[in-house]
Amino acid sequence: MKVLLVGSGGREHAIAWKLSQSKQLKQLYIAPGNPGTAEVGINVDIADTNLDGLVSFAKDKRIDLVVVGPEDPLAAGLVNRLESEGILAFGPTQEAARLEADKAFAKHIMRANSIPTAEARIFTHYEDAKMYIASRDEPVVVKAAGLAKGKGVFVCDDPADGILAAEKIMVNKIFGDAGSTIVVEDKLLGQEASILAFVDGRTIYVMESAQDHKPIGEQDTGPNTGGMGAYSPAPIVTDALMDQIIREILVPLVDGMNRNETPYKGVLYAGLMITPGGPRVLEFNARFGDPETQPILMRMKSDLLEVIEAVCRGRLSEVTVEWDPRPAVCVVMASKGYPDAYEKGKVITGLEAAARLKDVKIFHAGTAKRDGQIVTAGGRVLGVTAMGQTIADAKKRAYEAVSLIHFEGAYYRRDIADKALR
Ligand code: AMP
Ligand code: GLY
Repeated sequence: MKVLLVGSGGREHAIAWKLSQSKQLKQLYIAPGNPGTAEVGINVDIADTNLDGLVSFAKDKRIDLVVVGPEDPLAAGLVNRLESEGILAFGPTQEAARLEADKAFAKHIMRANSIPTAEARIFTHYEDAKMYIASRDEPVVVKAAGLAKGKGVFVCDDPADGILAAEKIMVNKIFGDAGSTIVVEDKLLGQEASILAFVDGRTIYVMESAQDHKPIGEQDTGPNTGGMGAYSPAPIVTDALMDQIIREILVPLVDGMNRNETPYKGVLYAGLMITPGGPRVLEFNARFGDPETQPILMRMKSDLLEVIEAVCRGRLSEVTVEWDPRPAVCVVMASKGYPDAYEKGKVITGLEAAARLKDVKIFHAGTAKRDGQIVTAGGRVLGVTAMGQTIADAKKRAYEAVSLIHFEGAYYRRDIADKALR
């Protein structure tokens, strides 16, 4: 098969690396890709939001299957465009991708299908939001309804902070139109887990569980990021809990999307809070998570391309997926300053030495090639991922690899996976 993968992050390097192991793969293109994806395929200089460019490239090259990594092209309708050209596409349609792109829509679907989530109110006027938040004396969580690169959520223990967050989003428009509507919800307490599943419209195949580390600072302090590290499996997700998640969340969601005439196909990502009262949905994403995908795919033994094709053809029930029982841990190395402003163009050294370590894989995210050297080119730069006999062992190996890699201002959390060890 000739495959085009859309995206350029650590997630896409992990997907490209895994696809490249498939016997069915004839050619892999990545648009726009990064220096990591260039090791396993051919990068094409088309932005992931250039729908016209992507569709005409896929037609010109007679691409058999397009795999869409990030949310922006999904929300813009890339899958609809490809399917109308008769090209197989992995990912939800624009209508179904609203589950991620519009948190008000997601709340509506959850309510309509009795899916457990935080109680929420939706606002389109700042004054109304302000009045509501001021009337509450419990902590609130204020969320821009649209896409904000994982940074659109403010957990506010004090209502005054909640009002400030609403003002930033709705009045100062720090996320542009993505903040025209906000969701204000109750703060939930517990441990988080990410559950990713392949869905072909009907059949749901749950992947191994994972846990993300969203805040920039150790002990989960500071502002949220796209994700600073992840491990898989998440020990908190026992078999019984996974059954409950499938029964109470995934099945009603997939049924509800069908009833809503927005059938879901692709990867469904449920960000959950495991509360004393059971699992509650914090958010849905319409794609693989980043960085969760790095440890999850490192553990996947089956042919990813086969699974993806089965999803696209509505034949997911015909495949089985095997997993390496060993845990994996991914530590994100970021640029100093991220998630706020940061400098680019810092030379990265030590990548080869780190890559020589056993059961270690360095996934590129925000990197670029300049004069034969790999330099930093984004906030999240690398996803250093390792497998081990235990989570503690995987963590040790990942940090061993991290210690060999250097660039000016490199920042990483030193406590990735500690939650799983407690
Ligand atoms: P989201 O993008 O909606 O998953 O939110 C990003 C992060 O904010 C989550 O991973 C949680 O850490 C936190 N968060 C979101 N909603 C809530 C909530 N209702 N209660 C507590 N924390 C939340
Ligand atoms: N790691 C969270 C996300 O991919 O949105």
